[in-house]
Amino acid sequence: WQKNQKKKKNKKDTGDVDSGSLVIDAEQTQLLEQASAQAQPFSKHQAMVTPATRSDFGDFQVNAAMGLAQALQLNPRECAQQIMTRLRPKIADVMEEPEIAGPGFVNLRFKTDYLTATVAAMANDASGRLALPAVAQKQKIVVDFSSPNIAKEMHVGHLRSTIIGDTLCRVLEFVGHDVVRLNHVGDWGTQFGMLVEHLRDEFPEALQPSQNPVDLGDLVVLYKAAKKRFDEDDEFKVRAREGVVKLQAGQPEELAAWETLCAASRVEFEKIYRMLNIQGLQERGESFYNPYLKDVVDELKAKGMAVESDGATVIYIDGYTNRDGSPLPMIVQKSDGGFNYATTDLAAIRQRTLLLSDEGGEQADRVLYVTDAGQSQHFEMVFQAAKQAGFAPTHARLEHVPFGLVQGEDGKKFATRSGETVKLKDLLHEAVKRAGHDLRSRNAATANVAYLEQIDRIAHIVGIGAVKYADLSMNRESNYRFSYDRMLSLNGNTAPYMLYSYARICGIVRKGSGQADDAVLEWPSSADIVISHETELELMRNLVRLPDVIAEVERDLYPHKICDYLFETSQKFNQFYEHCSVNQAETPELKASRLTLCVATAGTLRLLLNLLGIEVVERL
Ligand code: ARG
Repeated sequence: WQKNQKKKKNKKDTGDVDSGSLVIDAEQTQLLEQASAQAQPFSKHQAMVTPATRSDFGDFQVNAAMGLAQALQLNPRECAQQIMTRLRPKIADVMEEPEIAGPGFVNLRFKTDYLTATVAAMANDASGRLALPAVAQKQKIVVDFSSPNIAKEMHVGHLRSTIIGDTLCRVLEFVGHDVVRLNHVGDWGTQFGMLVEHLRDEFPEALQPSQNPVDLGDLVVLYKAAKKRFDEDDEFKVRAREGVVKLQAGQPEELAAWETLCAASRVEFEKIYRMLNIQGLQERGESFYNPYLKDVVDELKAKGMAVESDGATVIYIDGYTNRDGSPLPMIVQKSDGGFNYATTDLAAIRQRTLLLSDEGGEQADRVLYVTDAGQSQHFEMVFQAAKQAGFAPTHARLEHVPFGLVQGEDGKKFATRSGETVKLKDLLHEAVKRAGHDLRSRNAATANVAYLEQIDRIAHIVGIGAVKYADLSMNRESNYRFSYDRMLSLNGNTAPYMLYSYARICGIVRKGSGQADDAVLEWPSSADIVISHETELELMRNLVRLPDVIAEVERDLYPHKICDYLFETSQKFNQFYEHCSVNQAETPELKASRLTLCVATAGTLRLLLNLLGIEVVERL
């Protein structure tokens, strides 16, 4: 328990009540907290509630007694007794009589009536929401994700950001929040000077405003060529510097060249988004904030936060130092007058959280930034500066959602065999190709023409799903090793395994309810649930945890919790199915009851896979 406590201390304080690694659903948590709050001095110590460490202990355990006992110099079992007394009336509808175990854990177990009623309601909800209500307090949440850079390669880091960001958006939207998906593309900055000047020489037609996009060829090649000239040719360097100034001043030729570059990049990005089925992502790049940067710096100066240092304008944030202990400056205006990444992020925070009439402010309650962990310090400093400067109201939550590196199978830098960077398009195509190959070889003997016609579509779902799931099933903060073999494996916590589990349940339901093999499945309506075997109970105890899992992801933003839960659910289902035949059930009531369990399980898998951006298929 103490180990647990230490871990929790390191965890970022989200401002929420500390309820352990979670919890009973929101309503029940509240009940528990009220219960402990009613009794002084218990109010100071929240009732840490976690899922039971072993299922024979029950469903949840209250872990607060030991800590309380230590703090209050009491006997832990006595504390547990007190917690139990206060808890009992609050949870009586849902939980069996609480039990004290070990040094002072309070074990809680769902009542069977509660389980059967809840699961039947889940199975009966034709909307696909599994009877989960939308949140009462709707928030406006901006999610800044994907955010590749114009004229540069969209790399595997952007792929991670895109996949994780998209899932978080889907979860938050499902919960009932108002989500704004923003693509903060890198479309501004000094590099555009050299690109524009390079275009002037190589693609002069790109400097004329026109409806027809100019084909610039491979943008990465173009970027490298421009960079080479910039590094080697002094005269070109001078032109590039002037080019930026002209662009910033809105000169028509430079602006046209810049737009040509953005349009060409956009075409490339769109291909990736289409393959990944990323929807609703609005491009609002760095250039959007350009008109507000000067004002931001002026305001920082007026507030006394920004100061002059070696010709640049910088701010110092408490607690951030260089290695040698000297204060670490955050530059907001360079000595040549240019603004940078941090300035843009400060302007963006102001625009996203405040209501500014001239900037179309979003007034978000929460802003998430999904980028690699390497940018953590940048965001910490920017958030702190923004709060201090009043660019964000105090209630607004600014959260960096960091993720680790994508590595090759060998744990080294992710690259092709010849050492080049892997193009995302190639990577996604490869996954789809391998999935298709696999499907064809396994279904070679199938005579089902309708199925064979679908195989390309299914290969796309499995291949792209595998890439997404492999990424999302890892704790996002760890580095992640990319392996086609592992992600496409039918065994383990993978997309193919989950998709097969779903299709298998569809098959069971189809057969059990006498539906034709090739028709679209109709889900039978709920029957009363009758329990005949322990594994039915175990499955239900798992199914009713769905709202907790979603609430946890809403709060802590770790999508792998969804994958863990998906895997557990399918395992519980397998155990159930091993012991409880649906088609050969002893009575019609039992058969109907088991079909209802199948429907609730399938609904859970489908909902969660959809939240991960993975479509399901009824046949695989
Ligand atoms: N373009 C940046 C990159 O490629 C990511 C931008 C993230 N968003 C932000 N508001 N800074 O790393």
